[in-house]
Amino acid sequence: MTRLVSIANQKGGVGKTTTAVNLSAGLALSGRRVLLVDLDPQGNASTGLGLPKAAAEYSASTLFTFPEAAANLPVETHVENLYVIEGSLSLLDMESQLADEPDKHLRLRQACSVLAELFSVVVIDCPPSLGLLTMNALNASDYLLIPIQCEYFSMEGLTQILKVTKEIRAATNPSLELGGILFTMYQPEVKLAQEVKDEVMRHFRREVFSTVIARDVALSEAQSFAKTIFEYAPRSVGARNYVELTKEVIRQWSTNV
Ligand SMILES: Nc1ncnc2c1ncn2[C@@H]1O[C@H](COP(=O)(O)OP(=O)(O)OP(=O)(O)O)[C@@H](O)[C@H]1O
Ligand SMILES: [Mg+2]
Repeated sequence: MTRLVSIANQKGGVGKTTTAVNLSAGLALSGRRVLLVDLDPQGNASTGLGLPKAAAEYSASTLFTFPEAAANLPVETHVENLYVIEGSLSLLDMESQLADEPDKHLRLRQACSVLAELFSVVVIDCPPSLGLLTMNALNASDYLLIPIQCEYFSMEGLTQILKVTKEIRAATNPSLELGGILFTMYQPEVKLAQEVKDEVMRHFRREVFSTVIARDVALSEAQSFAKTIFEYAPRSVGARNYVELTKEVIRQWSTNV
């Protein structure tokens, strides 16, 4: 069964793309055929893997305008078993272009039914908002991963996305499972980080991944060299953390079938 994974948080800069790229790479290294869908108009996941800017018609926006053409969009990356559908600025037009379409929140699900034939995992990197693109991702997925940074207002953001998830589950996508909340850029020596982590644990203990991603400059350096952390710094803390996360996700999938 193909797993369809959304990586989402409406808050910006919390580690969504870093997690999407390195979890996808970790899953690809484990031998699975993985597709990373870059739903962010910024296209960070695509550039982070060294892909040149795709022409609009070959980017993720086509998943919304011609979902039946989805099979033509994945491009190979330099990582074995890892493919990408690139993000581009044309994704910004989707909100207005699909405004009057009755199925505007379900286009990506239609596209994913085509992609599920070709890949064993589809990871969707969402933009920092709860607009049309993220709604489509949540409706197309069976597993949601929410990266959070331990800062002021993390809890408010988390509560909001969990509420939206519950509504989607009740209305249009009962298969959406909360895979987990992932602490990113964690610095145990920072008091605020500890306090926020404790508060999230008090409310959502069972939903939190045991893996924590530490703040590690190698993770942002890797992105700027268009490499995964496993290529750039395989012995770094960041690489170890993402290996652990990959294993934890695979374990969840094997126990939750
Ligand atoms: N664990 C980490 N340690 C150090 N730096 C990190 C870590 N995770 C992410 N970063 C850096 O923090 C910045 C934001 O990360 P990232 O782009 O993954 O967040 P995002 O949630 O996808 O952002 P956006 O909301 O803009 O899409 C990037 O410069 C990235 O390299
Ligand atoms: Mg991002």
